[in-house]
Amino acid sequence: MQTEDGTGKGGGEAGASRCRRFEGKVALITGGASGIGLATAGRLLEEGAAVVIADLDSEAAQAAAAELKDRGLPDVAARRCDVTRGAEVEALVAWILSEHERLDVLFNNAGIYEPGEVHEIDEEAWDRQIGVNLRSVYLVSHHVVPVMLEQGGGAIVNNASVAALVGDFKSAAYCTGKGGVGMLTRAMALDYAKRGIRVNAICCGEIDTPLFVRESYQIGLTPESYREILYEAHPVGRIGLPSEAAAAVAYLASDDASFLTGVLLPVDGGYSAV
Ligand SMILES: NC(=O)c1ccc[n+]([C@@H]2O[C@H](COP(=O)([O-])OP(=O)(O)OC[C@H]3O[C@@H](n4cnc5c(N)ncnc54)[C@H](O)[C@@H]3O)[C@@H](O)[C@H]2O)c1
Repeated sequence: MQTEDGTGKGGGEAGASRCRRFEGKVALITGGASGIGLATAGRLLEEGAAVVIADLDSEAAQAAAAELKDRGLPDVAARRCDVTRGAEVEALVAWILSEHERLDVLFNNAGIYEPGEVHEIDEEAWDRQIGVNLRSVYLVSHHVVPVMLEQGGGAIVNNASVAALVGDFKSAAYCTGKGGVGMLTRAMALDYAKRGIRVNAICCGEIDTPLFVRESYQIGLTPESYREILYEAHPVGRIGLPSEAAAAVAYLASDDASFLTGVLLPVDGGYSAV
């Protein structure tokens, strides 16, 4: 049964019976104003991290931070940043260092979905999806990795998708971008394995977020009717909750996963096991 409403909330009351794996650590979450990013912000805050939410949508980011503070999680800041623009990412990382003097966890989460077969997707739509879903993972990591190298380590989690593991219909640009994120995850994991930076990815099946709701209408369905179809596709018989994706991110970013790097972890209710 679904217990969340797609807003990215969840994970219980602030700090409720959570271990504090991120005490003293600083985390940057791109696309943190909504969905999986917002749920992960809540989870990492509950576990003791200072969290910076960076999002294209400044108003939503401010609202998300205010909501988290209302839940008793004060150590959160919201910054507007378009993760496709190098100068904005550079300024964001400089601001984090001026505020916190370190950066331990990067969750490359910002993403968009636009349906289409190759003959339907125009050049702008192709570039937009590859830009937000793949190039940004390079770009944000490009500015964050030097900080992690300097401080002796860190953990990066990329938000790929089951679309990095199996193909999907009418999603050519999305699958291409997420497939690239999967391979970038493995390549970065190898490059930094001996220098204290672990790089892993989550590969979610359908998660009940605002992106899912938009995706439903984009393909001509209501969220309710699309949910029914997706229940069939996910062996556990339901789609996922933002908090379930957030729990996987928290695990990969924590020292509990100290021997994991280069992993593409399905968080998909068995979708990719079929
Ligand atoms: N929801 C799913 O079913 C699902 C499944 C697999 C993977 N994912 C991936 O999870 C990630 C988060 O998805 P979600 O479902 O939480 O979506 P969402 O739409 O709820 O949140 C995405 C956030 O990214 C932000 N964003 C978009 N473009 C940006 C940019 N250029 N710069 C900065 N921020 C930007 C949006 O403003 C939004 O707040 C995406 O990468 C998505 O591809 C989602």
